[in-house]
Amino acid sequence: MQTILVTGGAGFIGANFILKARKAQWANIVNLDKLTYASNLQSLVDLQEDPNYYFIQGDIGNLELVRYLLDQYQPNAVINFAAESHVDRSILSPQNFIQTNIVGTFHLLEASKAYWQKLTSPKQEQFRFLHISTDEVYGSLNPNDPPFKEDNPYLPNSPYAASKASSDHLVRAYHHTYGFPTLTTNCSNNYGPFQFPEKLIPLTIINALNGKPLPIYGNGQNVRDWLYVKEHCDAIYLVLKEGIIGEAYNIGGLNEQTNLSVVEKICTILDELVPKSDFRHSSLISFVKDRPGHDWRYAIDSSKISNNLGWQPKENFDSGLLKTVQWYLNNSAWVESVQTSSYQNWIKQNYEKR
Ligand code: NAD
Ligand code: DAU
Repeated sequence: MQTILVTGGAGFIGANFILKARKAQWANIVNLDKLTYASNLQSLVDLQEDPNYYFIQGDIGNLELVRYLLDQYQPNAVINFAAESHVDRSILSPQNFIQTNIVGTFHLLEASKAYWQKLTSPKQEQFRFLHISTDEVYGSLNPNDPPFKEDNPYLPNSPYAASKASSDHLVRAYHHTYGFPTLTTNCSNNYGPFQFPEKLIPLTIINALNGKPLPIYGNGQNVRDWLYVKEHCDAIYLVLKEGIIGEAYNIGGLNEQTNLSVVEKICTILDELVPKSDFRHSSLISFVKDRPGHDWRYAIDSSKISNNLGWQPKENFDSGLLKTVQWYLNNSAWVESVQTSSYQNWIKQNYEKR
C-alpha cells in the first residue's frame, strides 16, 4: 500500500481526508501537524489503535524535521493541507499567514524536491506533491460573472488569499523549473464534521445552541459555493491518482448560497431538532459591521475535474447541512473541547468591538 505524508491533518479537511483514507485503505498515513489553535487531535481519536497511521507534531517550515520524516517513512506522495486558514485572523494579524502559507510551503517544497531527486526512477515517476489551495486566489465575482475557471487571473484580496496565491505560484514554479511532480487543487468553502467554530457554519450552530447572537457581516448577501467536505476528500484522492502533473483542478459544490440564507437554513433545522418554546433560532440573527475587503461572491466551475477525471459533487446542500448540524449535536464532547479560553478570546476580539 502507498504511504502519504499529510500535513495539517489535525485540521478540518485534513482530518476528514485521513479518516477516509484509512477507512478506505487508500494509503498508510503520516500526519505532520503543528497543532495550532485550529487543530484537534480528538478528530482522529478513532485511529488511536491503527498501526498504519502515524502522528508527528511539527512545523512544515522545519526543514530538518521534514527531511527526516521523508527519509524515515519513504512516502509516495505529500499532500499539503497545512495552513493558516481564517480570513478574519489574517486581517487582524497576517504574520503567521506569511510564515506558514508562504515560507512553510517553500520549505516543504525544498525538502520534498530533494527527497524526490534521490528516489529511483520508478519511484520518481510515481511520486506526487499535491497542494491544497482555495478559490479565494481568484478574487471576487460580481453577481452575473461566470464561475472561476483554472485559467482565471489570480486577484487575491485578503492577506490569507494573497499568502495562498503566493504558495500556489511557488508550487507551479517548482514544477516548471525543476520538473517536480506537483498538482494543485483550488476548492470552494467546505462544510461538514470537525470544522473549527470560527467559520460561518459551525459558529452559527454553536452560537445558536448557546442562545448567543448569530453575527452576519454586512447585509448577508455575499455568496459562497458550499462543498461537502467528504466529497472534497474524494476529489483530492482522484486528483492525486489521476491528475495530470503540473496542473491545477478547481473543485466546487455547485451550491451557491447567500450567507443570510445559510444562517436561516441552520436556524430552521435547529427549530426542528431542538425546538425552543420561547423563541425561534432566527431571532438571534444579528447584522454586524462588514469584514474589511469582504469578497462579494465565489463560485467554482468544476468542469475540468468533471470532464477529465469524472468527479462531480452529489451532495444536496439541505441534506449536507442537516447532516452537519446533526454531527455537531451528536458530538458535544468535541464541541466543548474546542471552546477554550483562547477561542473565547478570539470571539471577543473579532466580535465585541466591531
Ligand atoms: P484548518 O485551519 O482547519 O487546519 C489547518 C491545520 O494545519 C491545523 O491542524 C494546523 O494545526 C495545521 N498547521 C497550521 N500551520 C502549520 C504548520 N506551520 N505546520 C504544520 N501544520 C500546521 O484548515 P482547513 O479548513 O482544514 O484547510 C485545509 C487547507 O485547505 C488549507 O490549506 C486551506 O487554505 C485550504 N482550504 C480550506 C477551505 C475551507 O473551506 N476550509 C477552502 C478552500 C481551501
Ligand atoms: O472559499 C474558500 C475559503 O472559504 C477558504 O479558503 C478559507 O480557508 C475558509 O475559511 C473560507 O473562507 P470564507 O471567508 O469564505 O469563510 P468564513 O466561514 O469565514 O465566512 C463565510 C462567509 O460568511 C463570508 O462571506 C463571511 C461571512 N461571515 C463569516 C463569519 C465568521 C459572517 O457573515 N459572519 C461570521 O461571523
